[in-house]
Amino acid sequence: MEKTSLHGMWSSRMAFILAATGSAVGLGNIWRFPYLASDNGGGAFVLVYLACIFFVGLPVLIAEILIGRHGRRSPITTLASITRETGVSKGWTGIGWIGIVAGVLILSFYSVVGGWTLRYGWLYLAQLFGGAHITDPGAVFTSMLANPAELLFWHALFMGATVGVVALGVEKGLERAVRFLMPALFLTLLLLVLYGATTGHLGQAAAWLFRPDWSKVDAGVFVAAMGQAFFTLSLGMCAMMTYGAYLPGNVSIPRTVAIVAVCDTTVALMAGLAIFPIVIAFGISPEGGGPGLIFTSLPLAFEVMTGGIVYGLAFFALLFVAAWTSSISLLEPATAYLVERGRSRKGAAILMALLCWALGLLTVFSFNLLSHVRLLDRDLMGLIELVANDIMLPVGGLLIALFAGWVLKDNILREQLAGIPAWGFALWRWLLRVLCPLLVAAVLINALL
Ligand code: PHE
Repeated sequence: MEKTSLHGMWSSRMAFILAATGSAVGLGNIWRFPYLASDNGGGAFVLVYLACIFFVGLPVLIAEILIGRHGRRSPITTLASITRETGVSKGWTGIGWIGIVAGVLILSFYSVVGGWTLRYGWLYLAQLFGGAHITDPGAVFTSMLANPAELLFWHALFMGATVGVVALGVEKGLERAVRFLMPALFLTLLLLVLYGATTGHLGQAAAWLFRPDWSKVDAGVFVAAMGQAFFTLSLGMCAMMTYGAYLPGNVSIPRTVAIVAVCDTTVALMAGLAIFPIVIAFGISPEGGGPGLIFTSLPLAFEVMTGGIVYGLAFFALLFVAAWTSSISLLEPATAYLVERGRSRKGAAILMALLCWALGLLTVFSFNLLSHVRLLDRDLMGLIELVANDIMLPVGGLLIALFAGWVLKDNILREQLAGIPAWGFALWRWLLRVLCPLLVAAVLINALL
C-alpha cells in the first residue's frame, strides 16, 4: 500500500482539522440543532445528544478516519482493497456504496437549503443598499417556497459554488477554501454570541439549552439525538473516511478527532447561544420552532433591533459558509471514486453535481408542485431526510463500527493508532464492538417502529 493518496494530501495537521471541522460544522449545527433542541425539550435533548457524540460519534469518527488513512483511496476502493488484504467478504465494500448514495441524497436537499442561505444573505445585502425590508418573514419564507424557479436558481448557485471548489482538487480547492472560510466563520459566530449577550437574555437562553426537563425524554428524543450526532459529525457516509485518506501518516488520529468534535459541539452550542437570546428577547417562544425557526423567527428580530440588517447579513453569510464547507465534503467521496475509475477531476465533480442538482428537484418540488405527495406521513424532502439521515447514516455508522471493531486486523489498528495508551485502545475497541452497535441498533429499531 503506498503512503500517499493520488488525489493529493492535506499539507498539515491544521489543514485537516480545518477541513474536517468545515465538514462537520454546517447547516446541522446552525439550522438543525437549534430547532431540534427547541422541538425536543431543550436541555434534555442536548444532554442525550452530547452522550451520543461522546459514546458513539467519537469512536466511529476515529474508525472512519483510520480506515481512510489506511486505504488512501475513495471509500469504495479503500474498502475493496482492505477486504482483499484481510481475506474477508467483499460485501463490506457495501459500506462505501451506502456512503456514496447517502452523500448524493443528502447533498440533493442540503444544497436546496444552502440556496436559502444565499437568498436570505442577498435580501439583507439588498437592504443595506435600500432594498425592501422583510416586514413579514413568514410570508417571505412561504412565498419563496411556493416559487420553484426561485428555489432552483439559488439551489443551482449553491451547487455551482460547491463544484467549483471540488473541481480544483484537495490542495488548490478544498484546503484553500477552508483556510480562509473557517476562521471567518468562528469570528462571525463569536461576534453574534457577544451580541446575543447584550440583549440581556443570554442566561435564559443558556437555561433553556442546558436545564434538562426529563419529562420530555421519550424514544423520539433518542432517535433525533442519535441522528443529529451522526449528521453533525458527517458520520456514516464516508465523508470523514475520504478526508482521512488525505491525512499525513504522522498525525495522531484520536487527538485530532477530539479537536474536531469539540469544535463541532462548541459551534452548535454557540449557535444556540446566538439564536435563542434574540428569539427570547423578541418574545418568540423557543419551543417548537421547526425547520423554519431561523428563517422566520430571526428575521422578525432583525427587523426591529439596532444593526439588525448587518446582523442578518452576517448571520446568513455565516450559515452559507458553514453549509458550503460541508457540501464540499458531501461531493468529494463520489468525485474521488469516479477519478479512480478514470475520469478527470473536473468531469467527475461536474457529473456528480449535476446528478445531485437534478435529484434536488424532488426537494424543490416538495414545497410546491408536488406538495400533495405524502409518503409515511412526510413530504418528499422529509422522506429523503428520513432515508438518508435517520436510516442510512446510522446503518453506515453501525457497519463501520462492526468492521473496524471486529473485522480489521489488529496490526492495522495499532499502526494507525500508534501512541495511544493501552487503556484508551481497549476502551475505544469495546465501544466500537459492543456499545455503539447496541445503541445504534436500538435507536434504528425505534426509528423504524
Ligand atoms: N455535518 C454536516 C452538518 O452538520 C452535514 C454533513 C453530513 C456533511 C454528512 C457531510 C456528510 O451540516
